[in-house]
Amino acid sequence: MILGIETSCDETAAAVVTEDGEIVSNVVASQAELHARFGGVVPEVASRRHLELIAPVVAEALDGHEVDTVAVTARPGLIGALLVGVSAAKALAWSRRLPLVPVNHLHGHVASLYLKPLDLQPPFTCLLASGGHTMLLDVQDRGGYRVLGTTLDDAAGEAFDKGARLLGLGYPGGKEIDALAKQGDPEAYDFPVARVPGLDFSFSGVKTALLYAVRDLGDQVKARRADLAASYQRAIVQALVRKTEEAARQTGAKQVAVVGGVAANSELRAVLPAAKAPPLALCTDNAAMIASAARYVEAVPPPRYLALDAYASAL
Ligand code: KG4
Ligand code: ZN
Repeated sequence: MILGIETSCDETAAAVVTEDGEIVSNVVASQAELHARFGGVVPEVASRRHLELIAPVVAEALDGHEVDTVAVTARPGLIGALLVGVSAAKALAWSRRLPLVPVNHLHGHVASLYLKPLDLQPPFTCLLASGGHTMLLDVQDRGGYRVLGTTLDDAAGEAFDKGARLLGLGYPGGKEIDALAKQGDPEAYDFPVARVPGLDFSFSGVKTALLYAVRDLGDQVKARRADLAASYQRAIVQALVRKTEEAARQTGAKQVAVVGGVAANSELRAVLPAAKAPPLALCTDNAAMIASAARYVEAVPPPRYLALDAYASAL
């Protein structure tokens, strides 16, 4: 049994997962409401809230279960937020003399596919699209991946969040745009996404296109909001799908998977019906995926992990 802990951004999460990928518990305390009035995550506010939530969230996930290993997101993320999780994980592991596994959050997103019942077996080509990252990965085994392409500027989730802000919608914006887009015409506006060479992405241009459309509409924006949301979502999804299909062609992969918060998007899932995707609750940040990834990473024995650090960067 593995206790997973995740505090890299604005979700305080803990989960218990078995060695063969069965989820025993999966607790996520979202801070979204706390950050909503700022229109985005305020790092210092997030750290302080993690500190308040970590003990009750872990207690709820453990709920009397005995665990053999503790896993924690050690990178990448907000450094203050990560440190709360890493410190808590060290204390929990050391008090029980358990091994500790430092997990890369991006590996965690991929490992959401290894949880039961999906239990996806590599090889596959994976689109990882979240608030902080947009990458295409070649996954040959469960221990890691090779990066085929990445965003040159904004992440796809970030484009959704910034777009939602321009439209006066709430935070986080992906889910709100997704819902509103269902009532709009995706052909109403032509929002071009920059065509960058290879398997990389760029989303800053489409965001600027939306900004100009909103500016030109003035006080008409509210009336056209659903059309704007639908057209904007269409542009982002098309760019993601085009590159994902190109990556699968290049690698010759027979399976395609999508992970990360943006993989919860209903249009993306509809356009890629054959793609493997985790259930919605495992797309956005959670600790079950962190415990899942830990099964394929070498554990650090006590007391060596007491010197373990957190890092803001992915590598
Ligand atoms: O994976 P995640 O929870 O956190 C990071 O690691 O960044 O991803 C959060 C991102 C946010 O940008 C959010 O707007 C986006 O995922 N998101 C969505 C949807 N649900 C969440 N984007 C599009 N459609 C959705 N339904
Ligand atoms: Zn994430």
